[in-house]
Amino acid sequence: MAVPFTNHLACRWHRFAPALGASSLGQSRRLLHSLSRPLANSQGADKQQFDGEVAALYQKISVSHYHPDGPWNKMVEVTKMAVAPNITNGAGGRKVRILDLATGSGEPANLIARELPEAQMFATDVSQDMVEKAKVLMQDLKTIEYRILDMQDLSSLVPVAKAAAEEHFDVVTCCYGYMFPEDKLKSLRETWRVLKPGGTLVTTYWVEMPMMKMVKQVMGDVLRASGMSQEEIDSQPPPPMNPMALSEPGLFKRMLEDVGFEASTITLQESSYPLNFTADNKTQAGIGTMMIKAKLDELVQSGKLSNAHEVANESFFRRAPNWMEKGTGGELIIEGMRFCLAVAKKPA
Ligand SMILES: C[S@@+](CC[C@H](N)C(=O)[O-])C[C@H]1O[C@@H](n2cnc3c(N)ncnc32)[C@H](O)[C@@H]1O
Repeated sequence: MAVPFTNHLACRWHRFAPALGASSLGQSRRLLHSLSRPLANSQGADKQQFDGEVAALYQKISVSHYHPDGPWNKMVEVTKMAVAPNITNGAGGRKVRILDLATGSGEPANLIARELPEAQMFATDVSQDMVEKAKVLMQDLKTIEYRILDMQDLSSLVPVAKAAAEEHFDVVTCCYGYMFPEDKLKSLRETWRVLKPGGTLVTTYWVEMPMMKMVKQVMGDVLRASGMSQEEIDSQPPPPMNPMALSEPGLFKRMLEDVGFEASTITLQESSYPLNFTADNKTQAGIGTMMIKAKLDELVQSGKLSNAHEVANESFFRRAPNWMEKGTGGELIIEGMRFCLAVAKKPA
């Protein structure tokens, strides 16, 4: 049973993605255009940003995604429905092939592989540390292949030239992944390319993240402590690891259409669930500052703020009561995390 600290609902904060805050169609189209090419100042997460300590922390917070209203169970159900005819009919003698991109510590690849033992599952991620965690999660499963790869280039799975029909995938899944590559449209184009005709994309992205608004306040406290003026703080770009990068209404659907998915095949379904930061103080602060870790490291290394991590931790715990509830076991819980489940089909 969660006990509210205080009423945090009155807090109003803008989205943590000012660069993606365009509201008119024209603005959004320009934004879509800008997403289609790599940006000089990189709007993608650095490849190493999910390695090491972040991989371990992410695995702890991601347990929340098993929530009945969370993404993983929904993705399993949609995937089962998408492959049902082929599993039943033996897919013309070939195994059903499922590709999980940005698998992180192994979901939803793990749940799907257990539900569909007849299928061949590929669990892939750009982070070696994440893939190692996925291997542990699925160590008892024999139907998984693992690959460390960047989803912007899937040529190691399906060659660009002369790919055999059987190398393509019946389903591509990707939970909370397309927000992170530098070139998000290129990643979607690669997904389209490796899907077989009639294949299905099952993916999720964040729509609302109160957690990011809190992180923005924590980052503001840190930058203030480093000597930055409020004006400079307000003009800071979102962090490169920005889970809200696809939250602009309508943006992801237009991206899907842009790479070839027909509007009539696209379904979008929103849902929300709580994230549990555990009851351990170190883990709580680690998760709370995970997305700004690279920036904190930079402030320490540059000598601008040698105690950046301590300032961030202090700010996190001071601000937590405004944003989070406390469970009876001491766990910190944040409500109102809203995501979108997007499903799209390539024409047969
Ligand atoms: C938020 S986690 C999602 C993990 C998992 N699917 C889940 O639902 O918990 C995002 C993952 O995307 C991966 N990632 C980031 N950029 C990537 C890229 N360019 N190609 C492949 N994976 C990438 C990260 O390493 C990380 O494991």
